[in-house]
Amino acid sequence: MLDRSNELTAWDRDHFFHPSTHMGMHARGETPTRVIAGGEGVYITDTSGKTSLDAFAGLYCVNVGYGRQKIADAIAAQAKNLAYYHAYVGHGTEASITLSKMIIDRAPQGMSRVYFGLSGSDANETNIKLIWYYNNILGRPEKKKIISRWRGYHGSGVMTGSLTGLTLFHNAFDLPRAPILHTEAPYYFRRPDRSMSEEQFSQHCADKLEEMILAEGADTIAAFIGEPILGTGGIVPPPAGYWQKIQAVLDKYDILLVADEVVTGFGRLGTMFGSDHYGMKPDLITIAKGLTSAYAPLSGVIVSDKVWQVLVQGSDQLGAIGHGWTYAAHPICAAAGVANLEVIDELGLVDNAGATGAYFRSELTKALAGHKHVGDVRGDGMLAAVEFVEDKDDRAFFDPGKKIGPQVATALLERGVIGRAMPQGDILGFAPPLCLTREEADIVVKAAAAAIDSVFANI
Ligand SMILES: Cc1ncc(COP(=O)(O)O)c(C=O)c1O
Repeated sequence: MLDRSNELTAWDRDHFFHPSTHMGMHARGETPTRVIAGGEGVYITDTSGKTSLDAFAGLYCVNVGYGRQKIADAIAAQAKNLAYYHAYVGHGTEASITLSKMIIDRAPQGMSRVYFGLSGSDANETNIKLIWYYNNILGRPEKKKIISRWRGYHGSGVMTGSLTGLTLFHNAFDLPRAPILHTEAPYYFRRPDRSMSEEQFSQHCADKLEEMILAEGADTIAAFIGEPILGTGGIVPPPAGYWQKIQAVLDKYDILLVADEVVTGFGRLGTMFGSDHYGMKPDLITIAKGLTSAYAPLSGVIVSDKVWQVLVQGSDQLGAIGHGWTYAAHPICAAAGVANLEVIDELGLVDNAGATGAYFRSELTKALAGHKHVGDVRGDGMLAAVEFVEDKDDRAFFDPGKKIGPQVATALLERGVIGRAMPQGDILGFAPPLCLTREEADIVVKAAAAAIDSVFANI
């Protein structure tokens, strides 16, 4: 094959506006362009021929791994037969209707309908509108505020970027917008008082939430949104009892719960949904990534029967719902979703995420035990994170300017493994494809330990 790397690199720097990229450094050629050419299983290959074990599954989305023929065939067949038809005014395709049935069959109890979008961000945007519509139909026009959490990640649109609780996504964008509020992150490792047990810290988070609700007025708070396990904010599992205590507060004040399962939906925690894993009782569930394993862009909002009944009442009063995207329930994406969910079942990937994920985390913990600068190794299912500290006893964090997390991720990549330097804190994240084997987990652990040693040898 003709080597076009130089030409592509030049075009990339001159014309391609990349998401989540340092614009100046990239345009000046101070950060590398990596042109990805192929993928097979848990590996990707770039145009220079370098192969890397992708232990972050793209952006925790390629859950079935790369190169699945069945999904590629389903996409090709759908494109050939019917590339597009819209879903407005009751239209559907075999793929979109079948997929909605497959999702509800797998969803937690009490779920009723699926609204399809294209990204996690647009699905959360839909959630906000449905929540406002719901309260208007119920005659509660004041009940509109949505409480999210610091370190939550829910997208980067205007409202979803506001829901996101990471300052990087707010800075200079005039976000967050009203009526979005943020409460305490359930981040046990960073708890304000180190003498707190997990249960006490969960109670502290629930108390903070209740304080906010009372200060704002319960009849102004419509919903609470949270990822079952914090993802982009640092891959942080909830402390013991957290969701039960939060749920009790929400029930007390008649506040809807949105479970953002963009990362956790379809198996990542070793259960089909994170809500079931942690005993959450959501009214709305956001899904995306693992729905198609990113073979095609597709997201959704799973609507509970409780909310659906009110939406139906709304259209009986107001007519057809004024909400829709041209590409909602796109047939090619829906066909990818059907084939993807079949692959997950056929290969037992949900169970593998639980079993191999537990093995991976336990090996990672063993390999890093006693390391002077490893403050925490945590995770659940096929999600893991290593958090670095300057001083373990004082739980002192590094100056962010030292960029310890990115340095470790770079050293890891040099050893042939992709992890992710999480955006806030010195945290190395892992979210491998759910098909990871124990042998592949061993490769990741060995490379991570070596990368961490190499970075700290110089500090
Ligand atoms: C929990 C969660 N919600 C929403 C989103 C936004 O999804 P998208 O990037 O597809 O808009 C993400 C993306 O990582 C996510 O992790």
